[in-house]
Amino acid sequence: MFNTSLYASRRSRLISQMQRGVAVIPTAPEVLRNGDAHYPYRFDSHFHYLTGFDEPEAVLVLIAGAVPQSILFCRAKDIEREIWDGFRYGPDGAKEKFGFDAAFPIAQLDEKLTGLMGNQPALFHPLGAHAPWDDRILALRACVQAQVRSGITAPNEIHDIRMLLDEMRLIKDSDELGIMRRSATISAAAHIRAMRATRPGKMEYEIEAELLHEFRKNGAQAPAYTSIVAGGANACVLHYISNNALLQDGELLLIDAACEVDGYAADITRTFPVNGRFNGAQKDVYELVLSAQIAAIAAARPGAHWNEPHDTAVCVLAQGFVDLKLCHGSVEAVLESGSYKRFYMHRTGHWLGMDVHDVGTYKLDNNWRALQPGMALTIEPGCYIRPAEDVPQAFWNIGIRIEDDVAITAQGCEVLTEAVPKAVTAIEDLMRQP
Ligand code: GLY
Ligand code: MN
Ligand code: MN
Repeated sequence: MFNTSLYASRRSRLISQMQRGVAVIPTAPEVLRNGDAHYPYRFDSHFHYLTGFDEPEAVLVLIAGAVPQSILFCRAKDIEREIWDGFRYGPDGAKEKFGFDAAFPIAQLDEKLTGLMGNQPALFHPLGAHAPWDDRILALRACVQAQVRSGITAPNEIHDIRMLLDEMRLIKDSDELGIMRRSATISAAAHIRAMRATRPGKMEYEIEAELLHEFRKNGAQAPAYTSIVAGGANACVLHYISNNALLQDGELLLIDAACEVDGYAADITRTFPVNGRFNGAQKDVYELVLSAQIAAIAAARPGAHWNEPHDTAVCVLAQGFVDLKLCHGSVEAVLESGSYKRFYMHRTGHWLGMDVHDVGTYKLDNNWRALQPGMALTIEPGCYIRPAEDVPQAFWNIGIRIEDDVAITAQGCEVLTEAVPKAVTAIEDLMRQP
């Protein structure tokens, strides 16, 4: 059952923050892949957050002020096109189901928008997100300006609507957290399936196929990002996506993969032995990354600032790198010089939501912002060791990352992805099962 009032209340909150003016928020364009084939369509996240409407060629217009209004422009009903491409709501159907004050065919956008912009003091738009839209909206504003001798004025302020929307999306409501739990649960099941399917002699893409199977079998619409299935040395390539190598006995397999459900992403990484048993060096590095990850999760609580989980993970890793003779000198010197970055060169997490790297600033007034209930983020420390003369050979080509998704609660955080095993014994037990 579509929750009309949820989306209407998001629009009302945005309108009251605009105070006055008109907002124009288009959904994403369809993108041609080649010939007549398009990439799978994915709506714009801001547009979907405010409407729940996922057809292409649609624009939301909001009017703030004494008489607030939500107006949708969408594809007209067209039986001929619906025979080829499927159902479309049309303005009347969309107005009824999605709860807009008015809806019009998208072909009327320019004409109606010129009228709606007239005498408005401010224009709000995702500026710079899509250059053709910037050009079109500024051209329409110029048309309004041209009516000056009729006594009509054009908006003389232009704001990036994302300043307001990003802040709203940063704090997830209970409906959003419910969807995120579903995408986390399906993604977790996919990782467990992948662990069970892995053995020496398989190809990375065979394991990728297991992940995709589990996503779709459970109703996820798509992967949230291109899956990384990286055996052995490939795990030391942070954005490895070729997924076409043979999995060999004695190597680790790093999988960073998750699905999107109803517009919300999960983001999970697990690293485990291809043959089901960690060797000594692998276990040493794995236990180190795991202890950094567990400590970082404990640091993700309300009132902590954004960087506390990262700082915590880095301290644990730096101590471990010294203990394992990967880094030399005191832990303080390793932290101070940043020499740990040779093995841990990325950050410990990012906001998570409709986008896998979700919207929201990380600093306010140049200070790391405080974590608050409803914020969702990843915790994903790692260690990537390339062969080098000054590195003990047993560690060469070990690449490990462990990534979970957490939502900040009043007490601490909820780990949305905890169903995937990550303790050494839990992984080995799972992989031993027939
Ligand atoms: N999968 C993308 C990331 O972990 O940031
Ligand atoms: Mn991530
Ligand atoms: Mn990831």
